[in-house]
Amino acid sequence: MAIRQNLIDFSSNDYLGLARSSDLAKSVSEEFERHVGLLHLNGLGSTGSRLLTGNSTYAQDLEDKIAHFHHYEAGTLFNCGYMANVGLLSTVASDEDTILFDVGVHASTHDGIHLSGAKAFAFKHNDLEHLENRLRSCSLTKNCFICVESIYSTDGSKSPLKEVSQLAEKYSAHLIVDEAHAVGVCGSSGRGCVAELNLTSKIFAQINTFGKALGTHGAIVLGNHTLKQALVNFARPYIYTTALPFYSLAAIKCSYDLLPSFETQRENLQELIQLFRKVRDDEKTSETHIQSVKIAGNESVKISAEKLMQKGFDVRALTSPTVKRGREILRICLHAYNTKDELLALLKVIESINRS
Ligand SMILES: Cc1ncc(COP(=O)(O)O)c(C=O)c1O
Repeated sequence: MAIRQNLIDFSSNDYLGLARSSDLAKSVSEEFERHVGLLHLNGLGSTGSRLLTGNSTYAQDLEDKIAHFHHYEAGTLFNCGYMANVGLLSTVASDEDTILFDVGVHASTHDGIHLSGAKAFAFKHNDLEHLENRLRSCSLTKNCFICVESIYSTDGSKSPLKEVSQLAEKYSAHLIVDEAHAVGVCGSSGRGCVAELNLTSKIFAQINTFGKALGTHGAIVLGNHTLKQALVNFARPYIYTTALPFYSLAAIKCSYDLLPSFETQRENLQELIQLFRKVRDDEKTSETHIQSVKIAGNESVKISAEKLMQKGFDVRALTSPTVKRGREILRICLHAYNTKDELLALLKVIESINRS
């Protein structure tokens, strides 16, 4: 389903408005002008895998630039976040290892775990005691990995990252953090939650995706040089695919260049989050730009989303099996470009749906 025209967007992942930003469009077109020779050389396509003709100093410089921005040794670009998670997990873990994952992690993490062949155990959402119990029984395997998201995509809940990292350290486990929904929005200049909490040195691998707050497309796995060497040599979604073309790399670069200047947008977003929480103070709200309203039952939640659409709001329903049966929700994404009046009007309609 595409973005619905003429509706107020409370649904897309364009949290800062970069995808619709004329500043970004302008700087990408200027980047094209500056690299006209490079474009002539490679044409529009990257022409091959990164291991063959699809590599370029532009891609390598971009990886270094992003790694540097997030204070990691190295970065490895992937064509999207799905491929990054699948590539990372299937490379670093094997059947001699154990992966512990929060039940709320994204499908791409599940698929990566499955492909790795590692023993895998879920722990209850954000439940540190359950995670520690799992870690105790993990000690007999070669390596233990913990997979979490800094901000969970369905309900916007935040991982207790500091405590999770302490447990990882205590049990010598490797911590993997998917920052798909945090980068751009959280931390200084949008560096994400890991950087905000000063935990970078404790993280084995961080996944950033560019199709959400960054407003473009693609992803990067951040970590140390050894991790990068492993990915470049063994990650099948990195090796056996055509690399991102120049125009994608240019858009990612320009988006990163603009991120620090989007402070006002980050502030707007924080104000909207506070407003949402204030108005719905009797409900369980998240601390982030992703909020949810529980409306149990696939039919009921779909009807509610439809009613909101008729009133001019683009809000999507998350139905089962995407979420557990009985835990269906309206997923509400706040954006820097939403106004307070729009949000108040949305909440008023939700209130009336809840009462009906
Ligand atoms: C937490 C998380 N990780 C990874 C992905 C996949 O990213 P991409 O859309 O770039 O494939 C998503 C996208 O929905 C996500 O929410």
